[in-house]
Formats: sequence, C-alpha cells, structure tokens
Amino acid sequence: MGGAAVAWLFVLFAAAAILPAAEAAHTVYSEYQTHEPEKLSPQDHRTAYHFQPPKNWINDPNGPLFYKGVYHLFYQYNPKGAVWGNIVWAHSVSRDLVNWIPLPPAIYPSKPFDINGCWSGSATILPDGRPAILYTGIDPRNRQVQNVAFPKDPADPYLREWVKPDYNPVINPDAAINASAFRDPTTAWRGGDGWWRVVVGSKNDLQGLAVLYRSKDFVRWVKAAAPLHSAAGTGMWECPDFFPVARRGRNGLDTSAAGPALKHVMKVSLDLTRFEYYTLGSYSPEKDRYLPDAGMADDRTGLRYDYGNFYASKTFYDPAGRRRILWGWSNESDSTIPRAVWLDNGGRQLVQWPVQELEKLRGKKVEARDLILRKGARYEIKGILTSQADVEVTFEVTGLEKAEGFDPRWKDAQELCKKKGADVAGGVGPFGLWVLASGDLSERTAVFFRVFKGKEKHVVLLCHDDSSSTSRAGVWKPSFAGFVDVDIQKDRKISLRSLIDASVVESFGAGGKTCITSRVYPVHAVGGAAHLHAFNNGAAAVKISLLRAWQMGTPNMNQPTEP
Ligand SMILES: *[C@@H]1O[C@H](CO)[C@@H](O)[C@H](O)[C@H]1NC(C)=O
Ligand SMILES: *[C@@H]1O[C@H](CO)[C@@H](O)[C@H](O)[C@H]1NC(C)=O
Repeated sequence: MGGAAVAWLFVLFAAAAILPAAEAAHTVYSEYQTHEPEKLSPQDHRTAYHFQPPKNWINDPNGPLFYKGVYHLFYQYNPKGAVWGNIVWAHSVSRDLVNWIPLPPAIYPSKPFDINGCWSGSATILPDGRPAILYTGIDPRNRQVQNVAFPKDPADPYLREWVKPDYNPVINPDAAINASAFRDPTTAWRGGDGWWRVVVGSKNDLQGLAVLYRSKDFVRWVKAAAPLHSAAGTGMWECPDFFPVARRGRNGLDTSAAGPALKHVMKVSLDLTRFEYYTLGSYSPEKDRYLPDAGMADDRTGLRYDYGNFYASKTFYDPAGRRRILWGWSNESDSTIPRAVWLDNGGRQLVQWPVQELEKLRGKKVEARDLILRKGARYEIKGILTSQADVEVTFEVTGLEKAEGFDPRWKDAQELCKKKGADVAGGVGPFGLWVLASGDLSERTAVFFRVFKGKEKHVVLLCHDDSSSTSRAGVWKPSFAGFVDVDIQKDRKISLRSLIDASVVESFGAGGKTCITSRVYPVHAVGGAAHLHAFNNGAAAVKISLLRAWQMGTPNMNQPTEP
C-alpha cells in the first residue's frame, strides 16, 4: 500500500454514506483523495488484531463454521476496490480465531442464479458432518434468490473449493414476495420431525419478515404458510439470525437444539436504522412460530448486541469450545473481535465476552490498584503501547446519593450521552477511560459510566463520546451509548474492558452486559503518541480497585501464508 492508503479510509467512509446498497459500482471520490495526510503514516489507522483483509472493502461476515479442527470465516469482499461492489465470498481460515490465513474466494458470480451478485448467507453442518452454504444470489433479472453450495472435497479441512449445483436456485421469491427485498438466509435447524427450517429476511411494505421455508433434503424447499416472525413498522429485515441459548450456564447450543432448558434469540439488522436489535423468546416447533417474551421489541427500542458501530452480525455454534460465537461488521471495514454469547442470569438479556483465545495476544502488562479518583482527577496508564491494548478496570462507586436525577423521558441512551458527554460534570460519574488521547488531551475518546438516581433504582449509562477527537471533518463519529442492567446500589462496583486497536475501540461494560464499538480516527493520538487515562468528572469519588492493561501483539491477519 502506498500513500493512497490514508485517502482510502476516507473513501470507505464516503462510500458507506453515499452508495445505495444495490449499486455495484467502483466509484472513485477524487475529492477525498486530495486531503493532506497531516504527517500520518498510511498505516496509522490500520487495525492490528481485528479481522480484516490486507486491502479493500469488506462488509458482512458470512457463514462462520468449524470443520475438521479449522475455523472458517467468509465475508462480503470487493477484490477490486475500497468501496462496495463486485462482491464475492472471500474466505479465511484459522486454528485459534486470532491468526487468519486467506484462501481464494469460495463463492463468486459464475452461474445464472448468481451472475449479478453473491450476497450474504450462512453455513449449516449436515448430519453427515459436511457443511452446506445457503446464500443470496442476484439473478439476471436482478431478483434475489437463495442458492445452496457444497464443498467439492469434504476431505479438505480448508474447504477451498465450493460447488454450486445447477439445480439452483433452491428458493425463488414467489408472487407474494418482493424479489428486491429477499435475502440473507440463516443457518438452518432441524426439528424432531426430520425437516430442516431456514428463514430469509424480507419485508412487506414496512412490515419486517422472517420468511420460513422447510426441506427434507436441503434441496427442495417449501414456503411455510406463515413467517416464523414479523413486526410492523420495522422495514427490511437484513441478516436475520435465529438460535437457541441455554437457560443456565455459558455453553452454546447447536442451532437445532430443542427442549425446555433453552430459550431462543431472534436478531434482525434493520436497514431503516442501520442498527441491529434482538429479542428473547420461545419457539414452538409444532406451530413453527417464534414469540418474543413480554416487553421485548424488534424495533429501535429493542435490545442490541452492541450499541455502537456494529451491523450484519452472525453467530455460529463452535462444537470445539462448546460456545456460540458472534461476529459483527464495524464499518468502514472491520469485523469485531469474535465474542462468546450466552444468556444472562435472569434471562432478560444476552452477555458477550471476547473469545478467550484473544488473551494469547496479551503482552507487556501494567497494573494499578486501589487508586482513588476524586472529582477532576485523572491517572495516566503508562509503559505500554496504548494504541494497541486490552484494558480491564473495576471501579468502586461511592456517594450514590449524589447521583443526578433520572428523567423517565430519557429513553434514548445515545441522545442522553450526547447531552451529558464526558466533559459535563455529574454526581456519580462520568468516570471511565480516555483512550486514544493526545499528549495535551485536546484529542481523546471517552469511554465512561454515568449513574443516575431513578424512581426505583439507579440507572447506569455506558457511553462512547468521541466528540473531543479531532478526526478530520466529515468523518462519522456519533456518541454511542447503552443502559447497563445492573443493581449498582447492591454491587457498589462496575467493570469495564476496552479493546483498543488503532481505529477501533470495543468496550464491554459490566462483564459484557452492554457493549459498544466505535471507529475512531485520531489525528495526533496515533501509534506511540496515543495516551490512555482513567478519569472522574463526578462529584463522588470512585476507586479503581484493579486496573490491568496489556499491550496487544499482532497476529497474522490475512497475510498470505500456507495454511
Ligand atoms: C456506516 O457508516 C455510515 C457513515 O459513513 C453510516 O451512516 C452508516 O449508518 C454506517 N453503518 C452501516 C451499518 O452501514
Ligand atoms: C420492493 O423492495 C424494493 C427495495 O427495498 C423497494 O424499492 C420497492 O418499493 C418494493 N416494492 C414493493 C411493491 O413494495
């Protein structure tokens, strides 16, 4: 990569904002290529340990699976440029979810049923152990159809070549379905009756739909009379994901698991908001209907895996680690760290945590204990490269009676974070971390908690406030925030983990109850010039009982090597 790489980041932002989803063009935005790189090196914003290819545009993670000791991740990729277009299923393999080796694209336009595009889909492991991929193809009439692909040589653990049988498409949009809004098949699950089920995302006007199909042989699919689930006013459901979670414990479950010891999760990526929402609920295999629990919503008031820059996610069951692993796309062009996902005690929400393999990258460590941060105090974490780090902190809170009152009209966490940013002094909090901060602190991204006094209990907000980051004009950097469902009065402490990786900040509040990912493009706080501080801008003192920060190593991230 030459000097054009800095512009490349801009091109990606511009592309994400301007390109309509269905426009397959390699557009060059010359106005973004003339920006002065302000002494930044082309690689200053390139992440080190988040999944990405050596160059070019990526979007949705596709069909993650585990096969013969190898993890596979496919993803929507433009082999020809840094904007959306020419999309193929790129393919990488890993033995540890940390180091990745690129293989040739697995699926690319070559047959009538996908000649105009090979879009997102999922993998299913068949009873004989072979994987099958279901994906959306764009046919010569620009209709969205669903196709199946199988490995050419099931003996090859790297699954290098995929065959798309000529009987495709296996699912055509019928007259009742909008053929321009019919995509992203899920992993299939098999009922006790031996029938496979799969859902495809769609819409009918503004009603979001998870259209259900059944098959005995994975080849002939029949549409069910009713969708698995739908919701008025939510628009197109992209990348639906539907899977069981155990009521107890952190182990994941195979997608076909059934019985009383589990609940189901239905996640949709709403094209209207460009954010994802999920519900917990129950699935009736007899009726083939999914019913969210009382109080759960599929719309923009619903629960989110991640309250930041996170979309088009997908999970898979990892039989080796007996866990369910989640991947999301963080635009412009990265995937988040794979996260294990399980049901929280109490069953009201999911919890996520970076896969433990990531800890292999932890290098030099610095530690602090029993630090009291009074109002206005800060503490700098020194001695490691903080632009590539993993930080874990536990904050003990005091003076809860000083918490600001919570106005019940504050339903939108993101709005609240915008109004009460990290520099707005409070009662209990804001306290947290300033990451990717310049030496003079004029540039910084705040990751913080703020505690309010609600009617019944305290309300805790986790926030990413990037407003003090000087990144260049035109870069998308909203404040992101989510509420954290904890009883702070009882716990008296709250934990925060942040993964910092040049231009990604990925935070896990309260052990992974509330997660936020941001893309940040500092001008000064890059590489060795980035600083990390803990801070408190609240009237009540907070105590850092333990802070540990590790410099993170650089894995093999899709540099060509022999697997
Ligand atoms: C990606 O970035 C753009 C800003 O360039 C934003 O408007 C958009 O909503 C983002 N998210 C997704 C999922 O496309
Ligand atoms: C079908 O979906 C496309 C793409 O979202 C939309 O532009 C079009 O209006 C829809 N057609 C109907 C009849 O709803």
